[in-house]
Amino acid sequence: MRRKIIVANWKMNTSLDEAINLIIDIKNLIGDDYAVLCVPYTHLGTAQELADDRIGIGAQNLCSREEGAYTGEISGKMLASFGVEYVIVGHSERRKYFSENNTDINAKLKIAIKNDLSPILCFGESLEQRDKGNYLEIIKTQVEEALQDLNAQDLSSVILAYEPIWAIGTGQTASPQQAQEVHVFVRKLISENYSPELANKICILYGGSVKSSNAKEIFKEKDIDGALVGGASLNASEFIKIVKAI
Ligand code: 13P
Repeated sequence: MRRKIIVANWKMNTSLDEAINLIIDIKNLIGDDYAVLCVPYTHLGTAQELADDRIGIGAQNLCSREEGAYTGEISGKMLASFGVEYVIVGHSERRKYFSENNTDINAKLKIAIKNDLSPILCFGESLEQRDKGNYLEIIKTQVEEALQDLNAQDLSSVILAYEPIWAIGTGQTASPQQAQEVHVFVRKLISENYSPELANKICILYGGSVKSSNAKEIFKEKDIDGALVGGASLNASEFIKIVKAI
């Protein structure tokens, strides 16, 4: 059985007090389930202290270099030293606003793996690419370039996340069938480039306007192993409904 997982991406939201309250509310509602919270860097230490074994803590980014004179950057080693377990890599907002390309993303993945972090690798097409019909080609390039030089052992700690850009923060979710098509395509790619066993084991999340009202329907698809949730993860009861829908 593949692991199913729900990951919150808080993006650049919450003051420290708001973050503390949100985590406390999530702990009160989560029961015996598990979720990952990718919180802003400044909240990582507090989040880690508040978390118990039902909550994994993740960062939203890391530097593509190991350490040194890179003012303002955060290294994989720093994240690992907080006890952080996960890190989002290659989110489309980083690609768009901070010009990250597949080479940077590949370097970040390698640093994350070296520091025993589980990277959550995001990929996905724009609306224009979807309308043109070449989105699977775009996704193939994103995934293959991001995973360049990674071996099967490396890949066993990677979580994949399909996030069509046109579905992020727009309220326009991909239909379960649209998401499933891409998940099957990427799983096949992993099977061809690595092995059928690894492809069957790797966790592929969907992200883009996931809400409690559409989560169940999305999770019915057999290649969708959970969700990366933005806006809806900032409300504890809404987020927990998604966690319980898996
Ligand atoms: P929304 O759930 O707000 O659409 O964001 C998705 C996302 O970007 C998660 O990383």
